[in-house]
This record gives sequence, structure tokens and C-alpha cells, in this order.
Amino acid sequence: TLCRMWTALLLLGLAVLLLYARRTRRGNEPPLDKGMIPWLGHALEFGKDAAKFLTRMKQKHGDIFTVRAAGQYITVLLDSNCYDAVLSDVVLLDQTSYAQVLMKRIFSLNLPNHNPESEKKRAEMHFQGTALTQLCSSMQNNLQHLVTPSQMGLKVSEWKKDGLFNFCYSLLFKTGYLTVFGTEKNNSASLAEIYEEFHQFDQLLPKLARTTVNKEEKQIASSAREKLWKWLTPTRLDRKSEHQSWLGNYVQQLQDEGVDAETQRRAMLLQLWVTQGNAGPAAFWVLGYLLTHPEALRVVREEIQGGKHHRPEERQKNTPVFDSVLSETLRLTAAALITREVKQDKKIHLSNGQEYQLRQGDRLCVFPFISPQMDPQIHQQPEMFQFDRFLNADGTEKKDFFKEGVRVKCPSVPWGTKDNLCPGRQFAISAIKELVSIILTRFDLELCDKNAKLPLVDPSRYGFGILQPAGDLEICYRIRS
Ligand code: HEM
Repeated sequence: TLCRMWTALLLLGLAVLLLYARRTRRGNEPPLDKGMIPWLGHALEFGKDAAKFLTRMKQKHGDIFTVRAAGQYITVLLDSNCYDAVLSDVVLLDQTSYAQVLMKRIFSLNLPNHNPESEKKRAEMHFQGTALTQLCSSMQNNLQHLVTPSQMGLKVSEWKKDGLFNFCYSLLFKTGYLTVFGTEKNNSASLAEIYEEFHQFDQLLPKLARTTVNKEEKQIASSAREKLWKWLTPTRLDRKSEHQSWLGNYVQQLQDEGVDAETQRRAMLLQLWVTQGNAGPAAFWVLGYLLTHPEALRVVREEIQGGKHHRPEERQKNTPVFDSVLSETLRLTAAALITREVKQDKKIHLSNGQEYQLRQGDRLCVFPFISPQMDPQIHQQPEMFQFDRFLNADGTEKKDFFKEGVRVKCPSVPWGTKDNLCPGRQFAISAIKELVSIILTRFDLELCDKNAKLPLVDPSRYGFGILQPAGDLEICYRIRS
């Protein structure tokens, strides 16, 4: 009887699967592409290299289409001139449910009352105005301290080798950690330890998100998480920061909501990743592009030299070339996937007025990396790094880009869409700028192999913020005398 029961269950399951698989496109829904494999659909191709897959789908279907991936129907919208308008409906297009899923998978964290909108508003307050000025000046001090010979374990003029990615990521992580998490654990040995564990965890993040970690990886991730949770325990954080800072305020908020101590610790790792997971990799790409593009490097160097006699707070202003280099770098490497859950059937309009129906229970994804950022109709030779792409002939910032004669609202969307902008963006820009200018002025830094090329992108990271390289770029560096 047991055997018969199993067979019946299996048949029932199969019937449900087939019924579900029978979804067909309704009247004004986007083109539907279910893929060949029942239920799974395009999941494997999507997960392996989202940019390649979605580019292929865009060529096949245009700026909007629905694909199936692991039982879920995902409508992908790639018409960048309507992103803001479509995503402004924060009620019917809900961002919390999928965020909850990811939090559970990646951070083993349950925050049922988590409200990204109010959180972002609060964060905005702490990352602007005088708070931002203080944060930036503390960041500059921390970075200055970290690049002293004693902190780097290096004698003046002594050459050392490293991978550029590791070099940039570890330096900016430590700087950001000291600045935002301002903690008692601030001697260089334990900072290095924290970075190592964070990096291990970060490397597995896409697999954790897709639940494709194997047994060994699962163990590595768990162990890294456990250590980080312990180190990040809120009570061990600096007392002074507890009242005024964004992080202190966040912890207070969790406590007011009645969140238990264990969950608070886990939430700290989420915030560590949100605040430290992108700027380091971005700084790597900026320096990587500069080191492999001699003319860009020369012009940026001249600009930094020119600003040297200015006061520290003035130095970062008026750097049009660097700003263009950064915009160009972010255009090429910022690849967050913006995901919403459709709460009710809903009409949306593309920028040409065309109307489409979204179906309740589906997901909506917007992927600015493909359009506008890598859209050949907006940016000529989009895969090329052109340091002056965001510069006008007169040296001012170039803001006018066109697609089929229509001005593009945003030629690049590294910080998210209008209703969902990164609150830390000014701080991030300031930190990247400071790191690059310190490296170019205080260090001799060159490629070990003068003909080395930038490593390729690790395709599994599409969807998770700033891309990371598959491999590294070997550099030799020394502190200038
Ligand atoms: C190059 C560096 C960075 C990039 C490209 C970046 C990009 C983004 C994007 C696209 C989002 C929106 C994600 C979403 O909700 O869909 C976001 C959120 C956020 N970012 Fe950044 N970010 C960077 C650095 C930073 C830094 C340095 C900080 C703070 C020190 C920061 C703090 C935040 C916070 C607090 C959120 C809100 C997260 C939430 O609760 O939903 N970011 N960032």
C-alpha cells in the first residue's frame, strides 16, 4: 500500500506540475518564454550568467518579456526610460517579500518587521549634511592610518606584491569598517581577520542566494558567519556611536521592535555587507581600468596633482576627469538586479506608451546593467572603457545621452532607481576617491606584467551589486619615501 500511495502522490505531483506548466500568454501580457525544461525553465542559464541570458532574451523578445525559472515567472523590464515610473508603485510592487527570502538564505536572518522604505529614509539622514562630513573626515583619518608603513607591515621603499582586488577590497573594507562600525576591535591583526572571514562569506554569497552551495561551502559559510556574528555583537560596538550614528540608531530601532539579541547580531552582518560589499570592488575596477589605460591614468594623475595644494575638504571637489572615470567604471560594473513581487494584476506602460499586464504572484525584475548601461544604442561600444565617456568637450560632466533620438533619463543606474537610491552613495564616492588618490600619490604601484589585461568578470555575480573579477591583477607596490 505504501508503494501505491507513493505512486499516487507522484502522479498527483506530476499532474500539478503539468497543470502549472500549462501557463499561456494572455492578451496584453509580455512575451512568455518558459524554456524547454518543465518547472525549472531557464533557471540554470539565468543563474550561470544573468547578463548573457537576459541579453539573449532581449534580442529575442525586446524590452519586456516573462521567463520561467524554478517554477517562478519573472517579468524582466529593460526599457530604462520607464523604470522610475513603473517602480514608483511601492504598494502593488512589493520589495519586502523577496528581500526576506534572500535575508533568510544568505544571512540566516528573519526580520519580519523589516521595512526597507523607512530604513532607507533613516539611513539617508545619517549619510548627508554634517553627519556625512563627519563620516568622510573620519574615513579619511582611518585610511591615512591604515596606509602607514607600520600598519601595512612594510618598510618605506620596500616593494611588495599583491593582487589588486585583494589590495583594494581589504583596504577599503577596513577603512569602512572602522568608520561605520567604529569598534574596539581596531588593531590591524584583528581587522585583517575580520576582512578574511568577510571575504570568504562574500565569495559564497551568490551561491547562498541561489541555494547552490555544496556541503563543504555550506560549512565554510556557516563558520564565517558565526565568527562575524560574534565579532559584530552590538554591545561590543563603540558606545559613543550608539546614539548618534546610523548603526547605533539601527540597533536601537531593532531593540525597540523587540528583536532578540541573536537576531540583532545577525542583522549586523547584513549591514556590514550592505555598507562594505560594493565600494572595495568598485575601487578595484577604477584602479584596474586606470592601470590598463595609460592615457586615462596620466590625466587622472594630473588632476590629482593639480588639486594637491587645496585643503582636504576642497580636494575632492572639482575633479571632472576622475568623476567621469568613476561613472564609466560603475557603468561597466554595477549590476544589481532590482526585484519586486507583483501583489495584484497590474498594468504598466513602457516609455513609448505601450501597455502591458503584469500577473499577480509573478516577479518583476529591472536590470539596469543591460539597459541603459550596456545598451549599444545608448553607449557606443558599451563593453569598452572610455575614461572620457561622461565628459563634454569643454570638460564639464556629460549628461545628455540618446536612444533612437529620445534623451535617456539616466545613462547609468549604479545607485538604484529613484525610489530606491543607495543612501550611502556620497560616502561611497568619497571613500573610493580618497583611496584612489592616496594610492596614486603615496605609493608607487604598477602591474607586475606590463601587458597584463584586466581579469574577466565572475559571471555568477550578476545581480549582486558591483561585479567581482574571476581572478586578480598582480601588482607591485611600495610606499614612497
Ligand atoms: C560603489 C558602492 C555602492 C554601490 C554601487 C551601492 C549600491 C546600492 C544599491 C543599488 C542599493 C539599493 C538596493 C535595493 O534596495 O535594491 C543600495 C542600498 C543601500 N546602500 Fe549602497 N552602494 C554602495 C556603497 C554603499 C556604502 C559605502 C554604504 C554605506 C556606508 C551604503 C549603504 C546602503 C544602504 C544602507 C542601503 C539600503 C539597504 C536596505 O536596507 O535596503 N552603500 N546600495
